[in-house]
Amino acid sequence: MYSNLWLDEKVKDNGASVELNGYDEASKRVINALNELKTSKALSGLKIKASCSKVPALSDEGYRLAFENGVYTIFTNTDAALVYAVFRLINLIRLKADLKDPITEIPKNPLRMLNHWDNMDGSIERGYSGDSFFFEDNDIVINERTTDYVRAVASLGYNGVVINNVNVKGAACDLINERFIGKVKELSDLFASYGVKLYLSLNYAAPIEDETVKSADPFDEKVIAWWQKKMAYIYENIPDFAGFLVKADSEGRPGPFTYGRTQADGANMLAKAINPYGGIIIWRCFVYNCKQDWRDLKTDRARAAYDYFHDLDGEFLDNVILQIKNGPMDFQVREPVAPLFGDMSSTNQMIEFQIAQEYTGQQRHVCYLIPWFKEVLSFDTYAVGEGSNVKDIVSGKTFSRKLAGMCAVTNTGNDFNWTGHDLAAANLYGFGRLCFNPDLSSEEIAEEWIKLTFNDDTKVVSNIKTILMMSWPAYEKYNAPLGIGWMCSPAYHYGPDPDGYEYSVWGTYHKADHKYIGVERNSTGTGYSTLYREPLKTMYEKPETTPDELMLFFHRMPYDYKLKSGKTIIQHVYDTHFEGAEDVEKMNALWLELKGLVSEDSFDRVKERFDHQVWHSKEWRDVINSYFYRKTLIPDEKGRPLY
Ligand code: GCU
Repeated sequence: MYSNLWLDEKVKDNGASVELNGYDEASKRVINALNELKTSKALSGLKIKASCSKVPALSDEGYRLAFENGVYTIFTNTDAALVYAVFRLINLIRLKADLKDPITEIPKNPLRMLNHWDNMDGSIERGYSGDSFFFEDNDIVINERTTDYVRAVASLGYNGVVINNVNVKGAACDLINERFIGKVKELSDLFASYGVKLYLSLNYAAPIEDETVKSADPFDEKVIAWWQKKMAYIYENIPDFAGFLVKADSEGRPGPFTYGRTQADGANMLAKAINPYGGIIIWRCFVYNCKQDWRDLKTDRARAAYDYFHDLDGEFLDNVILQIKNGPMDFQVREPVAPLFGDMSSTNQMIEFQIAQEYTGQQRHVCYLIPWFKEVLSFDTYAVGEGSNVKDIVSGKTFSRKLAGMCAVTNTGNDFNWTGHDLAAANLYGFGRLCFNPDLSSEEIAEEWIKLTFNDDTKVVSNIKTILMMSWPAYEKYNAPLGIGWMCSPAYHYGPDPDGYEYSVWGTYHKADHKYIGVERNSTGTGYSTLYREPLKTMYEKPETTPDELMLFFHRMPYDYKLKSGKTIIQHVYDTHFEGAEDVEKMNALWLELKGLVSEDSFDRVKERFDHQVWHSKEWRDVINSYFYRKTLIPDEKGRPLY
């Protein structure tokens, strides 16, 4: 058993009168949409008319919803859009929206994707909500839960899902072979019946295993022929297969660098092979040296993606899209926006976020990530002058690119509530809504999700919304300060360990001594700040103009330096850490007020997580504060306990 997430309750027959005009009634998507219309409790007894309209303005994925002469009307141009429209209509009716003024919604991002890091043994890399529901014992699982997952995803307008981990190993290498291709097709068909495309992560090194090839050099004729044959085989079996996600030359994964080739050489070789069938290659830019010597003060991991990709602008084929993590490091609670966004005007690019809370409390701490993502999306890159926001670059608008969009490493598993923490489902919901329309506010999204998931009781909505909106700032407060990141336990990435990464190979250092902390990344340091356009370059050059929250990311600073807030760095560390832990107490109190107002199960589950978070945020507070105190011997102005 598992929860229904935000989906409407189903009834056997809701007695709605449904008229479909102009759709191909044999289409599985239309059949599924009709089934949703006929069984949604919210639509009981209502009259609904859906028409395939051929209104160019709606494009392929948009819809128009209205309430006219006692009938709810839906217009779309395609059957995939009909699926999204039906779920949206159901949600709007449940949210008591007034459709007397028709609404037209067209997704802003062409690609709206989730990336699963699920392994075929059933484990999930960075999974915090149970095991995989796609894979078990090195096999693919397809059952009722699979359908309910796809419904949930489609209900938000997500249109693509990568089902397996980017680190493709073991049985996952066979997802494109005879062993699993039949089941992949079955899954792909199920996805397609809800307007969602299935993608696979690909092992770039696959032809090395073939005795007759033994190479993955993108210029080797045998390698090229191997992939051509492989693609032909895949499309013979799954004619509408969407494409591949590739992690190459990263964290031990082989790639074109092994053969002295560029990232473009590697991506294009695959892109050429898949092109005859209309598939795409999503190529990750998470390429860096993960075997760095910590004594090497010159190399800066933050530069890596830029340095490897920047000069390749214009060299990638049209069916390649670069997938760039939101920040230059790795999903830390605070990082600057990666300088590659907007930098490659002749290259398709999309943004990768992570809703799996790897570094943000692993779904044991509540951390509503949408406000953070919105900050990233509204960041001005100045790519074509003022107002060149990340959201317009990744949606393809700025450089008129058709292949563009957003994705997130997802946070689901086979736990009863799908996301470990009940409140983490707000990120799965919210990210889908944000992909569809990045202009929605975090509060609006939170409110919708709360009402659809819990109920519309004023206190329920208000308390949960306050908790969600407080949660990311609170987490940032008790975590590593001022953008420095990485003060967590190595490998697990959970809990405080200020020096955990300090003398390691990962390129993630804070370099604290008794006087200074931080990495100098301006023109006199690693030069990272110079990768941005003006006026950002100048802004990040000096501490006086660098935003407080990124001070230690960009600069090596003395502890008594006064921030724009008027506080010294050391006092900021102490204050935020005390505040962060207090914020958790406040969020906990708000939750406790909801006893009896939300389901008992949900109440208890979240209460248990809060019990842990209250304790654990204090652990963070005291470890980080004591670390700083011991380094500096500067006392807290307010005389609170430091150890
Ligand atoms: C992080 C994460 C890894 C993951 C990698 C990636 O480093 O810890 O587990 O494989 O990101 O994005 O590929």
